[in-house]
Amino acid sequence: MLIVLLGPPGAGKGTQAKTLAETLNVVHIASGDLLRDHQARGTDLGLQARSYMEKGELVPDDLVIRMILDRMSEESGRQGAVLDGFPRTLTQAEALEASLEGLGIDQVLYIAVPADELVRRLGGRVICRSCQRPYQQDSAPERCADCGGELYQRDDDRPEAVQNRIQVYEAQTFPLVEHYRSQGKLKELDGAQAIEAVTRDLLAAVAA
Ligand code: AP5
Repeated sequence: MLIVLLGPPGAGKGTQAKTLAETLNVVHIASGDLLRDHQARGTDLGLQARSYMEKGELVPDDLVIRMILDRMSEESGRQGAVLDGFPRTLTQAEALEASLEGLGIDQVLYIAVPADELVRRLGGRVICRSCQRPYQQDSAPERCADCGGELYQRDDDRPEAVQNRIQVYEAQTFPLVEHYRSQGKLKELDGAQAIEAVTRDLLAAVAA
C-alpha cells in the first residue's frame, strides 16, 4: 500500500504520518526528516540542501527524487509506505509514478488547513533532535516523550521562512491537488480539527 500525505507546511503531515504508518504497518518516509538527518550528519546532500531549507525554498528536484527513490528501494521488502512531504512538485510526482512501474499510488490524503492556523502552529512548534517528533511548545514535555531526545525550534520555523514556505507551497505544490484529484486518487480532509479527529478521518479514508 502506498499512501501520499499532501498538505501545506504545518498541516500535521508528520504528526499524522507516524500514527498512520504504525496502524497500517508500513514504513513512514518523510523527505524533510531525511534532509535534516543528512544535514546533521554533514553529508554532501545535507550541505547542498541547507541553504534552500533555511530560506524555505524547495531543494532541487533531482536531489530529492534520488534520495526518496533510494530510501524506497531500501524498504522494498515492506508492505508499503506513507510518503510525507514527497512529492512536492509535478516533476517529483512524475518521477515517483515512473519508478512504480504501473503499481501506482493507492491514495493521496490531502490535509487542508487555513493559512492563519498554519502560521500559529509553526510559530509554536518544537521538534525532537533525535526522532523529529513535533510538539507544540506550550504543551511539550521537557524532552521527547518517545525517545528522550532534546527539543528545539527548526530554523525554517522563523516567521520570514514560514511565510515563504506557505507561498512556495501554493505556487509549486498545490497544483498536485488537482493532478491527483483528476486521477481520482485524492481525498480531502479537514486538518483544522483536533489531532485525534484528523487521525480518525484519515483512518476512515484509508479504509473506505
Ligand atoms: P518538511 O519538513 O517536509 O516541512 P513541511 O512540509 O513544511 O511540513 P512541516 O514539517 O512544517 O509540517 P507538517 O505538515 O509535518 O506538520 P507537523 O505534523 O509538524 O520540509 C522542510 C524543508 O525541506 C522544505 O521547506 C524544503 O526546503 C525541504 N523539502 C522537504 N521535502 C521536499 C521535497 N519533496 N522537495 C523539495 N524540498 C523538500 O505539525 C505542525 C505543528 O502543529 C506541530 O507543532 C504539531 O504538534 C501541531 N499540530 C499538528 N496537527 C495539529 C492539529 N490537528 N491541531 C493543532 N495542532 C496540530
